[in-house]
Amino acid sequence: MSSNVTMEKIVSLCKRRGFIFPSSEIYGGLSSCWDYGPMGVELKRNVRHAWWKAIVQDRDDVVGVDTSIMMHPNVWKASGHVDSFTDPLVECKSCHLRWRAEEIENQAMKQPQKEEAHPTTPPIWRGTCPKCGGDLTEPRLFNLMFKSFMGPVEEEASTVYLRPETAQGIFVNFENVVNTSRKKLPLGIAQIGKSFRNEITPGNFIFRTREFEHMELEYFVKPGTDGQWLDYWVKERFDWYVKLGIRKENLRLRQHGKGELAHYAKDCYDVEYLFPMGWSELEGIANRSDYDLTQHAKYSGRDLSYYDGQSRERYIPYVIEPSAGVDRSVLAFLIDAYREEMVEEEKRVVLQLQPALAPMKVAVLPLSRNEKLTPLAKKVYQQLCPSFMADYDDSQGIGRRYRRQDEIGTPFCVTVDFQSLEDHQATIRERDSLAQIRVPIETLEETLRAKLGGEPFDVSPLWATRQK
Ligand code: GAP
Repeated sequence: MSSNVTMEKIVSLCKRRGFIFPSSEIYGGLSSCWDYGPMGVELKRNVRHAWWKAIVQDRDDVVGVDTSIMMHPNVWKASGHVDSFTDPLVECKSCHLRWRAEEIENQAMKQPQKEEAHPTTPPIWRGTCPKCGGDLTEPRLFNLMFKSFMGPVEEEASTVYLRPETAQGIFVNFENVVNTSRKKLPLGIAQIGKSFRNEITPGNFIFRTREFEHMELEYFVKPGTDGQWLDYWVKERFDWYVKLGIRKENLRLRQHGKGELAHYAKDCYDVEYLFPMGWSELEGIANRSDYDLTQHAKYSGRDLSYYDGQSRERYIPYVIEPSAGVDRSVLAFLIDAYREEMVEEEKRVVLQLQPALAPMKVAVLPLSRNEKLTPLAKKVYQQLCPSFMADYDDSQGIGRRYRRQDEIGTPFCVTVDFQSLEDHQATIRERDSLAQIRVPIETLEETLRAKLGGEPFDVSPLWATRQK
């Protein structure tokens, strides 16, 4: 992270340039819900695409699925989410706001404690309500799954949950995928989709929200090989962020302590990023052992074991799960790409996103709105549109239009000027170096394609080194 990046600057840029808006803003917004605007939707699509390409397209051992958000309620009993997907909460006895016990505990630990000769309460509950200072209740468990009812009758029997992870849609389809894909273990099944969690303390913009998008891979392996596959995926996933431009010094790995492992996990590493609020989880890579398939076999009565033709054994596979958030990745990419620079004694804000992630790859800018320039500029734009996400802008002075493109991270601007009418050439201006070259208009597409690093804009070494 650049030392001068704050969350306020990122939120402001996102609003100003059409990346992310508060949800239902004209009604005053809805806590922790955000809408992606024209630039944000492209950035998010590019993040998903980069993940899918690395996880599914470029490999022959992973296939994809897209499963439903609402599932049979027994799925969540089997998975342990009904019993264990809980956070201990304390409630303020005065204002009745609820807080995560862990959060109050951290705050209380930071405050100087009064010495008591014979303490009567455990130290953590010396904390008071952060809002009004009132006394707090003892912690109670609160389930984080959103509940609804399927059909017209609101009764216990018709209870459904909005999925809190996409992983379970994969586990319940393991048998279907093995039978239809004719693939052998190790086999991965990947999914990108919405998840919902009734988080007690959402916040930090899109870092923790109640509705978010997961990118999850369940990688099924032979028991006994799980340790080495966990190491493999931890490295793969760390390298993915680096390859897409996140500076190594802003990333680190952290292994979970025994007491912090999720109910299904045998081991787990977090890839952490140095967000403005400090080091925080970007992605988790867990060894889920045979927990999920064993539980679903037990609750559904189906045999979910796998016959290994090579070793002639039947076993329940172990699962390695790299689980990332699309929105949290978007936030990390935005923060890491954000720069403020002085150019000709003027401050410019620039998003140095990898071209693979940039919402627009190129912007076509006529020097002015002069009626002689417009037809040629429009022609150039139409020529580039089928190949690249391209923007056309003739709204203000050329300097302001360059600044706007810098702020949304457009790697190249193509300027059409009066000389273009004579020599049929245009100027390509590069976002980071500000270098300008003139090229024949008919070669624009191939020049840009070469500079962007090929189809579909894989990370080119040029961009990778420039980011350092
Ligand atoms: N299936 C395992 C699982 O869901 P997790 O650590 O709870 O593991 C994985 O979540 C990733 O999903 C996190 O590292 C984060 O990127 C993202 N994530 C989780 N909860 C989130 C929330 N409330 N808002 C935004 N992203 C979230």
